[in-house]
Amino acid sequence: MARIEAEVGTPKGGLLRWIDDRFPLSETMRYHITEYYASKNFNFWYVFGVLAMVVLVIQVVSGIFLTMNYKPSAAEAFASVEYIMRDVEMGWLIRYMHSTGASFFFIVVYLHMFRAMLYGSYKKPRELIWIIGMLIFFVLMAEGFAGYLLPWGQMSYWGAQVIISLFGAIPVIGDALVEYIRGDYSISDITLNRFFALHIIVLPLALIGLVFVHIVALHEVGSNNPDGVEIKEHKGPNGIPLDGVAFHPYHTSKDLVAIIIFLMFFSAVIFFAPEMGGYFLEHANFEPANMLATPEHIAPVWYFTPFYAVLRAVPDKLWGAILMGGAVLLPMFLPWLDRSRVNSIRYRGWLYKVALTLFTVSFVALGWLGMQPADRVFVLAARIFSVIYFAFFLLMPYYTSIDKTKPVPERVVYRA
Ligand code: HEM
Repeated sequence: MARIEAEVGTPKGGLLRWIDDRFPLSETMRYHITEYYASKNFNFWYVFGVLAMVVLVIQVVSGIFLTMNYKPSAAEAFASVEYIMRDVEMGWLIRYMHSTGASFFFIVVYLHMFRAMLYGSYKKPRELIWIIGMLIFFVLMAEGFAGYLLPWGQMSYWGAQVIISLFGAIPVIGDALVEYIRGDYSISDITLNRFFALHIIVLPLALIGLVFVHIVALHEVGSNNPDGVEIKEHKGPNGIPLDGVAFHPYHTSKDLVAIIIFLMFFSAVIFFAPEMGGYFLEHANFEPANMLATPEHIAPVWYFTPFYAVLRAVPDKLWGAILMGGAVLLPMFLPWLDRSRVNSIRYRGWLYKVALTLFTVSFVALGWLGMQPADRVFVLAARIFSVIYFAFFLLMPYYTSIDKTKPVPERVVYRA
């Protein structure tokens, strides 16, 4: 008996012991929560991972309730969404939670990714966390794209039309592939049905599975921190990192503050600006899909526009699609493109700081340009910013290896 207690920690009885004899509950809680030591100097940028989890839960729960009243058919989809908005008890709230949640998911995930670029969180030994993160990002994009077709509004229809037809640019198999994705000769009831299946089953399952392995990988190597120093290299006599504090109660209480503030922002948008001036829900999507009337100006939702701008910046359809795909894929290789000896921006030289600033400006600018009509001046600007975007990644091995870095402290710097 004494041996079992030594193995599982504090003495306990009743139900917990019964469960622990059959399932490693206490051990898992200790490993991932009460005895997971993360650096004490986490800052604002470290809240977005947990916020992404909060949004994931909001999306799954609101999605389940939407599905109870939504009709996945071309004849009924648009009307069923109107019915949810007008007649279903609290239906408007559930729908706005879900549509606002989609945009907030991308805001939070973009900031979460940017944090990794600030502090070099993708560098050794965290490459796999980053790669899994990128897979999450791809699935999230597919989830957003499939979801946008479901209300069967004008922008749902024509947005999908534009993006799916891009596959047609692939030589030889292009046309067959487009037909295969649509399941029909044009976007139709069949397309809507399969996108519904992807949106409510396949992609959410993939997302949840990937988030699970993302966290497992993170807890295997341990979190990075704003100084980019490995806290595991300085442990006390008890084997606990000297600069680490237990995830619970220290980080959980900090995260709770962030969650509350986040929910205040989230509610403010839901209650006061759910369409966000046409950015979160585009105006054209309040008209039912009409295959005979193209909207005057087709643009995807804001979170796709940086990549859409790259597509439009290239005159050739195939090259546009290739470069757009490249823009989405390139960040995946950051762990190998970045040759800097230091992790955190705090100890990098001016070259990386300038490069990251230019990258951020070009990403935001491309996002804005992707929403504008494809006029000459906008296309020209999109070309310039696309060049900066690609240069940031492709020249990275060079400028990060010659950048003059500052000495990195042995231990994390923390002023309470
Ligand atoms: C559903 C989406 C996601 C969820 C729920 C999620 C969740 C988390 C959580 C809870 C953490 C630990 C807390 C933190 O460091 O903020 C984390 C860390 C991390 N995530 Fe994500 N993540 C998501 C998407 C992504 C994406 C898209 C990327 C990058 C492509 C990414 C890259 C990372 C990295 C590199 C870390 C380690 C950060 C460090 O230790 O400094 N994650 N993630």
